[in-house]
Amino acid sequence: VIRQDKYRPSYHFSPKSGWLNDPNGLVYFEGRYHLFYQHHPFGTTWGPMHWGHAVSTDLVTWEEQPIALEPDEHGMIFSGSAVVDEQDTSGFFGGRPGLVAIFTHHDSPPGTGQVRECQSLAYSTDSGKSWIKYADNPVLEDKHCLDFRDPKVFWHKPTEQWVMVLACGQTIRIYHSPNLKEWTFASEFGHGIGSHDAVWECPDLFPLHIDGKRAQVKWVMLVSIGDAPTIREGSRTQYFTGEFDGTTFVPDADSEKVRWLDHGRDNYAGVCWSDIPVRDGRRLFIGWMSNWRYANLTPTERWRGAMSIPRELTLETREDKVALIQRPVRELEGLRTPVLSLKEPSLAEIRAAFSALRLDCYELAAEVATVGDFGFKLRVSDQQETLVGYASETQEVYVDRTRSGCSDFHKDFAGRHAVSLEAVENRLHIHIYVDRSSIEVFFNHGQVVITDLIFPDAASNGLEIFTADEQITLYSLELYELK
Ligand code: FRU
Repeated sequence: VIRQDKYRPSYHFSPKSGWLNDPNGLVYFEGRYHLFYQHHPFGTTWGPMHWGHAVSTDLVTWEEQPIALEPDEHGMIFSGSAVVDEQDTSGFFGGRPGLVAIFTHHDSPPGTGQVRECQSLAYSTDSGKSWIKYADNPVLEDKHCLDFRDPKVFWHKPTEQWVMVLACGQTIRIYHSPNLKEWTFASEFGHGIGSHDAVWECPDLFPLHIDGKRAQVKWVMLVSIGDAPTIREGSRTQYFTGEFDGTTFVPDADSEKVRWLDHGRDNYAGVCWSDIPVRDGRRLFIGWMSNWRYANLTPTERWRGAMSIPRELTLETREDKVALIQRPVRELEGLRTPVLSLKEPSLAEIRAAFSALRLDCYELAAEVATVGDFGFKLRVSDQQETLVGYASETQEVYVDRTRSGCSDFHKDFAGRHAVSLEAVENRLHIHIYVDRSSIEVFFNHGQVVITDLIFPDAASNGLEIFTADEQITLYSLELYELK
């Protein structure tokens, strides 16, 4: 008898069974988005890493595929990327375009007490269905660097070559290749800049137009940082903006302050899709919705680990500074069933509407005048609630999952995650996605994001609004149930 899978996300990707961590090999090819992922198919904790595989035509509905890559004589298959080799630079495809995966082989040969990480290739001649490991693996080694992993590769058009960003200890190395098989060192980034709380992992590097203006381009470097006992937050992802000429990444002069991609606890190892068609033009991101602090302990059954919703990344000027902005992809609108759409509703009106509702998967958007403390209580029952709110005195937005449901699997899980956010002309926009075991909140149209896992009971399905002094002005409120 299969017990009710009460934490199984409804619209987030999770594996049918087994363990999942980082997204890998994100690539668009012949009309389909590919999502590979760090996967242990035979257990619900981290173990011998495979690449699981799923495909989608709309980024929202995923179909799980057979396992793409299994451990071999070089070791486990750690994180990496995939590209469309359009011009067959690799020679794998007889002159046609094809898919190449570039990943880390991770090995700890018995008795040596040593770890060995190197970069390898696999390719697919049937549009991603099956994968052939390159006979001359590995293609990149460095015996002096122990943590040497997570290659993200892209074609750099101005210099007509492949560029790889690779995590190496606590820096990012950049390599060049004409054919994906031979790699030469180009530069190193990260000494004396950014957070060095722990090992650097899963880099990404890509250009974006500032405020959508054609002529203004900046490059964004994503770097995930592992967990360490000294860090309160566990594992998380930082980002840098700067210039890139094909060889060297030069961070902006004002990069001394660490900038976090997400202010919740559960968005890690995220990277962007490769080869999105120019006519689409979006930079599409997905992250692993967990945290190394407790990832192996979360209370799901038969499967463990899910991805965030796919998000579009942009660079926009906010508070006089260029900032990385995240928005849910528009394809998610296809899941909506409208429940409420209120213009300038009174508190009483909202309370009356909410009190009749029982929802577990939904999207809530509200624009509010930030006079005093207020917020929403999500997934509510007598015992449980998750708060999304604004604290006027400290000018902070927050998610509080202290009483969100099951949290006794790790002492650091329960808690309140806050970040300061100045209201623009006294208005705050809150956009919330709730699923059976997660909430993702986009404040002020993606300027600040909080992604947090929660594990409420199925019966905790109430929705409430709260204010400190019964005084609140809402400009609008929309609520959709998500299928
Ligand atoms: C990040 C990470 C990567 C590594 C993979 C192993 O979460 O530690 O650096 O390739 O997970 O599963």
